[in-house]
Amino acid sequence: MTSKEPQHGEIPGAPAAVPPPVDEPTEPREPLPPKPDQRAPETVSPTGQATGAPPAAVAQSGAYLTTAHGTRLHDTDHSLKAGPRGPVLLQDHHLREKITHFDHERIPERVVHARGSAAHGVFESYGTAARITRAAFLAEGVRTPVFVRFSTVLGSRGSADTVRDTRGFATKFYTDEGVFDLVGNNIPVFFIQDAIKFPDVVHAAKPQPDREIPQAQSAHDTFWDFVTLHTEATFHTLWNMSDRGIPRSLRMMEGFGVHTFRLVDAEGGTTLVKFHWKPKLGVHSLVWEEAQIAAGVDPDFHRRDLADAIEAGAHPQWELGVQTFPDTEDQMFQGIDLLDPTKIVPEELAPVQPIGLLTLDANPSNFFAETEQVAFHVGHLVPGIDVTNDALMQGRLFSYVDTQITRLGGPNFPQLPINRTHAPVNDMLRDGMHQTAVHRGVAPYRPNSLDGGCPFVAGAGDGAYIESPVPVPESRKVRDAAASFDDHFSQARLFWLSMSEPEREHIAAAYSFELGKCYEKAIKERGLRVLANIDGELCRTVAEALGLPAPEPTVELADPQPSPALSQVGRTWPLDGRIVGIVVPDAGKDVADARQAVLDMDMVPLVVAPTGGDGVQRTYATARSIEFDALLLAGSPSGDAPVDARLLTLVGEAYRHGKALGAYDGGDALLAAAGAQTSSAGVISGDSGTGVLGQVAELLGSHRVWDRFSAHPGV
Ligand code: HEM
Repeated sequence: MTSKEPQHGEIPGAPAAVPPPVDEPTEPREPLPPKPDQRAPETVSPTGQATGAPPAAVAQSGAYLTTAHGTRLHDTDHSLKAGPRGPVLLQDHHLREKITHFDHERIPERVVHARGSAAHGVFESYGTAARITRAAFLAEGVRTPVFVRFSTVLGSRGSADTVRDTRGFATKFYTDEGVFDLVGNNIPVFFIQDAIKFPDVVHAAKPQPDREIPQAQSAHDTFWDFVTLHTEATFHTLWNMSDRGIPRSLRMMEGFGVHTFRLVDAEGGTTLVKFHWKPKLGVHSLVWEEAQIAAGVDPDFHRRDLADAIEAGAHPQWELGVQTFPDTEDQMFQGIDLLDPTKIVPEELAPVQPIGLLTLDANPSNFFAETEQVAFHVGHLVPGIDVTNDALMQGRLFSYVDTQITRLGGPNFPQLPINRTHAPVNDMLRDGMHQTAVHRGVAPYRPNSLDGGCPFVAGAGDGAYIESPVPVPESRKVRDAAASFDDHFSQARLFWLSMSEPEREHIAAAYSFELGKCYEKAIKERGLRVLANIDGELCRTVAEALGLPAPEPTVELADPQPSPALSQVGRTWPLDGRIVGIVVPDAGKDVADARQAVLDMDMVPLVVAPTGGDGVQRTYATARSIEFDALLLAGSPSGDAPVDARLLTLVGEAYRHGKALGAYDGGDALLAAAGAQTSSAGVISGDSGTGVLGQVAELLGSHRVWDRFSAHPGV
């Protein structure tokens, strides 16, 4: 083990900027500043103007406890009473203020995407989109502050991070022309084609209304009842059942705008686009057993990973890219309806062209003020970016502001610090709950003469947002969709055919679990009917697991060209921020060299030892394999005593979950004791930690040892 005790803050997760003393402090002092990895919203005014005020200006200040109105207090531990044993007096304003405020600390959680975590960052534009959009923040070299919130969809605010679910990926760009929100998901398609079905899909997927279970998961009757009857959900459900439904890290997820957007250039020319976020660390998922373990051992797994990585300086990055399509009258591309949000355009047909780089470089300084109060909206657009007639998108344009009025207690939530635009605001919206702007003038209406006719409307040359004057199709008023929307299976089949063998095994196992958790046989049978329309092998595997006959397809199975871009297997990725556990069963052993070698590769070494001590970050009591991308076993336990069961669990799970394992100095014996075959793929044995690490690092580039999975079906 290293003899050096890590400095405060060297291992991410320190709760405050300086370590606390053991004894209760006796001298007052100003509140501590935020930690170096944290940032607060810009201190712009409620109407979007730079104030120049430091972030501390909106934090608490002064050394002494005060009331909300700034009066110093001398006691906050005792109510004001008529004698030490007497009744509490109604006149105790401090008691009533303290309790009243506490009683109202909670606000309604989001109706969907309630659980989330977020970070501040910057978006730097490459300028490559400048030829198709006049959006100023997409001009070359422009740097735009951003706030990004990742979320699960189904669970409540306190639910676990690693549940099988879609993940939200919402980005607020504070551009000079106003706020642009790209409110996407980590899955490029959606369950429904029309927003009017959103309450249906969410009611079906949320916990059942009688017992309010299960929490944060789709493995229940109402969800499968809906998606097997409403088969336009098939493709999204398949993504959910794939490894994409359980990301390894928020830093390793793709993001998608889902809908087709319309970009508008300086001359008014239009191009249809789909937005993609591509993680620099590659797309990587948990295996199902890891997801389940993490939900119990560390329900904050993703939240912690994101915050720790940013704190450690491993700032996650994504490239923003666009697939571009000509803005034709039919809004189709190679037979794919661009207005149907249940369809992708394979990247092989329309490559994703990079247009900028997102870097998340700071954690929020206050979860409630920032992550909870941030309010995204698909309708927050800037000149150069316009919407299309996608009926899902159109409903979203109504829904977000509507829900935020309830969630954030009135119409003035754009004035909350995290939501404030960095562009000047000169609206005619007035008053309302929690108004913090102090508007001047007497004429918030147009036309007026009393305020000199102001505010004036801007022309295109003054940077106005002007909706692109695209033709509206001549038609009749109907509640209907285009015929192309009826194809619910061909792209699900395309996805299935694009998966590698272990990915297909994972998908089949996920359907077997989820349908297996349904109570009603009819729903399981209906689920199999849907699977038969995706693929016979998938259907038969799940049918066998459910103990039911596999039905025949009811549609002709498509024969699409597979899209390799959909698979996570077959590429290599940078190692930055990957976590290597160095297991030291012998408390006296020095692993400083191995630790330094891990750091030199820009990875994070965590030393795991039987008990705590100098240079130890995890003990057998606190370590589980889920946390590590690879393990180095620096020896085996000595003596005749049985090997600690927790150590065997750690190593055995790492082996089963396809993680790279390196053993040296007799670590082979530990591998064998944990049931790992030393001849198996991705198990390295050598003489020195640094030597073994080199080979382990090579394996880490492909995220997992995929070849090991077929030896462990069902993991
Ligand atoms: C492509 C389809 C959709 C995507 C990608 C999507 C994405 C998201 C994301 C990422 C969030 C979380 C925002 C945050 O972090 O605060 C969210 C919230 C929400 N979404 Fe959607 N959504 C979709 C469809 C819809 C539809 C069709 C509706 C309703 C018609 C809807 C209603 C909502 C509501 C009400 C919230 C909560 C907003 C809040 O309380 O601030 N979404 N959605």
